[in-house]
Parts: sequence; structure tokens; C-alpha cells
Amino acid sequence: MIRMDWRRKHVLGLADFSTEEIEFVVDTARSMEEVLTRDIKKVPALRGKTVVNLFFEASTRTRTSFEIAGKRLSADVVNFTSTSSSVAKGETLLDTARNIDAMKPNIIVMRHPASGASHFLSRHVSCSVINAGDGSNEHPTQGLLDLFSILKAKGKIKGLKISIIGDILHSRVVRSNLHSLGRMGADLWLCGPSTLLPREMARSGANLTNDIREAVRDADVVMMLRIQLERQKTAYFPSIREYSRTYGLNRGIFSLAKKDAVIMHPGPINRGVELSDELADSAQSIILNQVETGVAIRMALLYLLAGGHNAAH
Ligand code: CP
Repeated sequence: MIRMDWRRKHVLGLADFSTEEIEFVVDTARSMEEVLTRDIKKVPALRGKTVVNLFFEASTRTRTSFEIAGKRLSADVVNFTSTSSSVAKGETLLDTARNIDAMKPNIIVMRHPASGASHFLSRHVSCSVINAGDGSNEHPTQGLLDLFSILKAKGKIKGLKISIIGDILHSRVVRSNLHSLGRMGADLWLCGPSTLLPREMARSGANLTNDIREAVRDADVVMMLRIQLERQKTAYFPSIREYSRTYGLNRGIFSLAKKDAVIMHPGPINRGVELSDELADSAQSIILNQVETGVAIRMALLYLLAGGHNAAH
């Protein structure tokens, strides 16, 4: 078991995580997975603690996963959605956050369409803040659960060819994965049309290509991303049909990957656009394993931020 002196108050992005911290969170998540195998999947670790899920953007996986994670640890979990709150009457993020902070939660988990929103929040509240996705900046818990899912499927990260294909430009998942998978020594490939593939990402050490065949050839992991039409302010490709023909993953293209390669996707999937139905539901797909792993990762972070300081486990 890894031991470390955990002093972090917020989880805003993986950019400032050390390799040791990433390993410690994953190791803690392994302990949490054991809880999830029990008949009664609940421990009293966060009894008396309050977690507020503050979501200004739609979410299925992340919000539900944080709610389940908090409840598994016996925290009181409160869900806030902007459409049914005073945000709909014009209240600002700052006023909303200060009012929630005044009710003395231990942790606010926030998703927001603006990049940097979680950093802003963390400067104005006294509780801990976890970034559940801020614009196209970072999605740190997704980065950690992706790393843990690959570790479970492959036993290692170092040296694996991991290809991420799709709307790289608008993807907060990619930006977190560049820090987590990149730091762990993966051979990272980013692939998409030039308009959605920022050249400066090569500075992270990742390989960039517009050719899906080059990305998939001999890959150990192929991670597909959705086209984020809600963040696109201009036309980045002629049509969804053409995009799908050029950058969609189907059985023929996937046959170029290693025989034991796995397929990932953070969700939500646009079936038939970036990924064929057949592959999404195939034995090589670990997409639902990612979702399952997400609960353990989020339990680990809630535990470490609210209850497990200086934890040795
Ligand atoms: N992966 C992810 O963030 O999914 P949701 O948008 O459903 O939370």
C-alpha cells in the first residue's frame, strides 16, 4: 500500500498533480472497490460530512457517480442543478457559490461550461472544490478513472500505445489525460481533422496525426471522443456524415489495432458517428468498466478531501 501525507484541499485539474498523488488516488480507489464488492456497499467514513453536487451543465455519469460515491461513504449528498435554482432568475455563479458555502458543506463538486470556473470558485469558498468538468479545460476525475480502467485492463500504462480520436480541440478529457496518461509514460496519439487538432498539443509529447489508420495501427487502447457540437462556434468539418466516414471507428479500422486492444469512450456516445454500434457493445469495449471504475475513483477523492487526510490504508 502506498502511504503519503495528503494535504490537497481541492481537485481542480491534473496539471498540478504529482505522479505520487495520482498513484495514491488510484491505490485508495482500489480499497474503495473492495467496499463495492460487499453485500452492504456502505461505510461510515464520511458520516456527518456534506457534499454538494453543483452542476451547471448536463451530466449522466459524473453527477450520478459522485452522488453514489458520497452515499457509499455515508456523506449527506445534495444535488443542485442550475435550471431549478435561482441561477434561472439571474443569480451569478459567485453569489450562488457563496450562498451554498454559507450552509457549510465540506465539498462542492462543480461542473460548469466556462474553463477555469472551478479555480474561480475555489478562491471564493471555504470548503473543498472538485472540478467535475470546466469548459474545455479539464475533467480530472475522468482522467483518473481512465487511467485506473487502463491499469485494470492492461496492468500498466508505460509503453502502451494509447490513441485518442475525435474532437481534441474541445475535449477537457484529453487535457486531463495528457497529464495523467502522459506522466505515466504512455505513447499517446491524438487524432482528428486539422481543425479539431491543436498543433500546440504536440508540446505535451503526444504524437499528432490526421490519419485514423496511423493512430489505430498497433494501438493497445483506442479512446473515441464525441464531436462537441455544443462548444463549436463554427463549422469544423463539412458534415457529420463525412466526419463519420473519415474518423469513425468501425470493425475494419479497429482490426489494425493489437489483437487484445480495448475501446474506451468517456460518454455520452453518439452511436454511428464516432463509434459503430457493433464496437460499442463488443467484448473489446471497456466503456461500462470506465463508468464502474468512476465510482471508486470519486469515493477515493471524497474520502481524501473530507476524511482521509494523512491516511494510511
Ligand atoms: N464522462 C462524462 O463526463 O459524462 P457525463 O457528461 O454524462 O457526466
